[in-house]
Amino acid sequence: MQTFPKRTAHAGNLGESSIGTTVTLNGWVMGRRDLGGLIFIDLRDHTGFAQVVFSPQHAPALLDEASELRDEFVISVSGEVRERENRNDNVPTGAVEVYADQLSLLNRSEVPPFDVMDRGRSSEELRLRHRYLELRNPTLQNALRIRNQIYQTVHNYFAAHQFVEVETPLLIRATPEGARDYVVPSRVHPGKFFALPQSPQIYKQILMIAGYDRYVQIAKCLRDEDLRADRQPEFTQIDLEMAFVDQNDVLEIAEGFIVQLWSDVLGMEIDRSFDRITYRQAMARYGSDKPDRRFGMELVGCDDIFAGTEFVPFAKTLEFQGSIVGINLKGGAGNYSRKVIDELTDHVKRYGAGGLAWTKRNDGVFSGGIGGKLTEEESARLVERLVVEDGDIIFIVSDTWKTAHTALGELRLELARRENLIPADTFDFLFVVDFPMFEELHPLTGKPVPAHHPFTSYRAEDAGLLEESPMEVRANAYDLVINGYEAAGGSIRIHDTETQGRVLDLIGLSEEEAQEKFGFLLDALTFGAPPHGGIAFGLDRLAMILAGTTNIRDVIAFPKTTSATSLMDKAPSMIDPLQLKELGIDITEISGE
Ligand code: AMO
Repeated sequence: MQTFPKRTAHAGNLGESSIGTTVTLNGWVMGRRDLGGLIFIDLRDHTGFAQVVFSPQHAPALLDEASELRDEFVISVSGEVRERENRNDNVPTGAVEVYADQLSLLNRSEVPPFDVMDRGRSSEELRLRHRYLELRNPTLQNALRIRNQIYQTVHNYFAAHQFVEVETPLLIRATPEGARDYVVPSRVHPGKFFALPQSPQIYKQILMIAGYDRYVQIAKCLRDEDLRADRQPEFTQIDLEMAFVDQNDVLEIAEGFIVQLWSDVLGMEIDRSFDRITYRQAMARYGSDKPDRRFGMELVGCDDIFAGTEFVPFAKTLEFQGSIVGINLKGGAGNYSRKVIDELTDHVKRYGAGGLAWTKRNDGVFSGGIGGKLTEEESARLVERLVVEDGDIIFIVSDTWKTAHTALGELRLELARRENLIPADTFDFLFVVDFPMFEELHPLTGKPVPAHHPFTSYRAEDAGLLEESPMEVRANAYDLVINGYEAAGGSIRIHDTETQGRVLDLIGLSEEEAQEKFGFLLDALTFGAPPHGGIAFGLDRLAMILAGTTNIRDVIAFPKTTSATSLMDKAPSMIDPLQLKELGIDITEISGE
């Protein structure tokens, strides 16, 4: 077995207090500079990096070997820590350097396909293919260590609050939640499939029925859905469930966890009582059920202002009970040319709006866009309602209530990005409560589609609306929103068979279908189910927010691409025909890639 001088110190920990000591460092070469007979290298390990000097006076015998060193070679170096002549205050170990008197080459490296320390300059595809190299970068090292701290906090906090960790199965029956299942064929039962869990939802409810009182799990969830910057097909939830609780109990536990997490990871003491706003308020003010409140520019309802308007698009909207909503971009009149406004119009159209009305305020009058179409009274009321001053530009969307608010909410975010209105390093926490029970009426069946999952209970006072006006029923469902991200979601569940039956009936699931899909939960509900509810945090999203990145892949060791593939190990892949035969599977169509 090869032996080598083992490290006695870590590169990133060297500082003025190390001066005069002799250390051995183990790590990777990060750049070599040859300067007038002296050779400098930076040696990197998981704590940081330090400068190592090979000098002709001090250790002439090492120079030849040192001149052979290349990026990412693995070495062991020993020497005295000295004060640096040209101190570099821009790096943490810049006050010192190690004068090498021993060098062992432990391994060579191919020339890396990208600079490990400057990953931003190469394509993400290349980096994902060589993820082992990218993971050496300090930003990713830090992100995965933040993730590790999250695990510790989860275990400590929930244990201190009497939660029991239970592992739920990965091979399960297809789940009834919105997005699509990944499936796994059974060899023992050819033609039959397991599903991978989209979440442990049913199991955690069953654990409450089984009397475990408080459950928590760091759970892998798998969803074969379209991906976005903050979504992965394989992601992790901090999943919990509690018996004999109401909504407030769950939100308090969630709040306490987040307060602890921010303290453990960032050393920040945050205020414990997060704001709670209803879904309707969130939509009305921010045009989003996950509002980013780190900046203002709130949406303002303008229906009454245009009650008698002759401007046809607005009049039509009001005739069909839609909404007219406005926003004021302060001081934007000068910067927003036709071309930019066209881009913004395309932006709102992506969210379903038919168009984007706008006008600018200059010299006490509205001009451009719909400016000429406004009556004096409408103008005056707009000025008052939207607090318009000279130099402002206002944008208005008229559509159905939901589309008008959603599209303008997206415009609000886009304007904030363009205008740099979002302050860095601030955190905004809030709970959005009173989500609607149903998302929409199914276009084909006309039946209401659950907004969360079909086990979510509704507000008792809305029970009478269930059959008559289902879209108005509020659920006992809530989300935790941090900086515009949905960081967690949960609900108080239905715990009696009769109510569960009523909801399943309403969404058009026959008794047989319900039995077939999750009869075991319905059975369990008949054996003394306690009132219960819970929440699940997106662990990856929390890690993203804590690490200050907007890319979920930065906080996952081995992430998938946006087209749900793994570039490093090239999954998914074909499997052996013999294996397929054994599984009883016949492939009729093969992916073109
Ligand atoms: P939900 O589907 O809202 O609820 O998920 C809970 C939280 O998980 C995170 N999340 C994701 N993170 C990354 N990639 C994804 N594809 C992804 N999908 C969801 C979000 C979200 O808030 N069983 C319920 C929870 C409950 O009712 O207790 C559930 O899964 O942060």
